[in-house]
Amino acid sequence: MRLSDIKLGHSNRDTDSISQSPVQVIAIAGGKGGTGKTNIAVNLAQALANEGKRTLILDADLGMANVDVLLGLTPENTLYDVMRGKCELEDILLTGGHNLMVIPAASGVGQLANMRWQECAGLVRAFSDLKEPVDTLIVDTATGVSESVAVFCQAANEILVVVCNEPASIRDCVSQLKHFYRDYGIARYRVLANMVDSASEANTLFQNLIENFTDDHNLQISYAGYIPTDEHVRKAVHSHQSVVNSFPRSPSAMALKKLASRTMEWPRPKRAGGHVEFFVERLIDNENMGMEVIS
Ligand SMILES: Nc1ncnc2c1ncn2[C@@H]1O[C@H](COP(=O)(O)OP(=O)(O)OP(=O)(O)O)[C@@H](O)[C@H]1O
Ligand SMILES: [Mg+2]
Repeated sequence: MRLSDIKLGHSNRDTDSISQSPVQVIAIAGGKGGTGKTNIAVNLAQALANEGKRTLILDADLGMANVDVLLGLTPENTLYDVMRGKCELEDILLTGGHNLMVIPAASGVGQLANMRWQECAGLVRAFSDLKEPVDTLIVDTATGVSESVAVFCQAANEILVVVCNEPASIRDCVSQLKHFYRDYGIARYRVLANMVDSASEANTLFQNLIENFTDDHNLQISYAGYIPTDEHVRKAVHSHQSVVNSFPRSPSAMALKKLASRTMEWPRPKRAGGHVEFFVERLIDNENMGMEVIS
């Protein structure tokens, strides 16, 4: 089955095989390249997995994937093979360690990088067929304002926007959020300052950022904390491991673990939002069954 063949509103899932509780879906976004999105995605996922949460990372930087590289994984098949109809999503699922799974994308494949709305929506829908129980899905998105990034952000329950203290990073973040708000109606974001030296620098960065949104009254932008600049991140990247596991006492690892604890407090979705969403059946099932969802 090709991604574009997976129709909205239809699922061929095995209803007995999945847990009914809502999955927390966090998209990691950022307007500018190199702000640390993939490192945050991988380490947040690892920290959640270490806390006993069954965590899945979707490498949604579709054309320039590198989650697999950061975790030292060598995928046999990728989303490109799912897109070509060669295999199902389930078949490309990799284990990245205890409680940690990865859906890898390909690198340097233009067809994946340019996936349009319908194909991205098909991919989002395909997650409903996964038989592996998942507690949290972390979506590492590509840089910028492409349609695919918008679909993945809209399909997530939370969007964590990674910003650095550089004029270009702030400007690109403002452009991305305004574009997603005005063209896709995505109104709620949490901002994480990365590669800063102190809490006060991160706070100033956040204040400078939100000054750009005084005219966008319905936008809700909250502060999610900061990750310090830390040489251990680069060292961990070189050893193909998360910094959380390789240097657990380092400043960045401590901050990432704190971030993971905070995300565990974030409310889970209670009902379907009426657009393309990851694991939407669980929300609809919960509504239909009148289930109380613990957030
Ligand atoms: N807190 C940090 N301290 C030091 N270096 C960091 C930190 N966070 C990220 N980096 C470094 O910044 C670089 C870019 O990180 P990363 O690949 O995660 O960014 P990205 O936003 O995913 O980039 P792209 O837009 O290319 O996908 C890497 O070399 C990484 O090691
Ligand atoms: Mg990246």
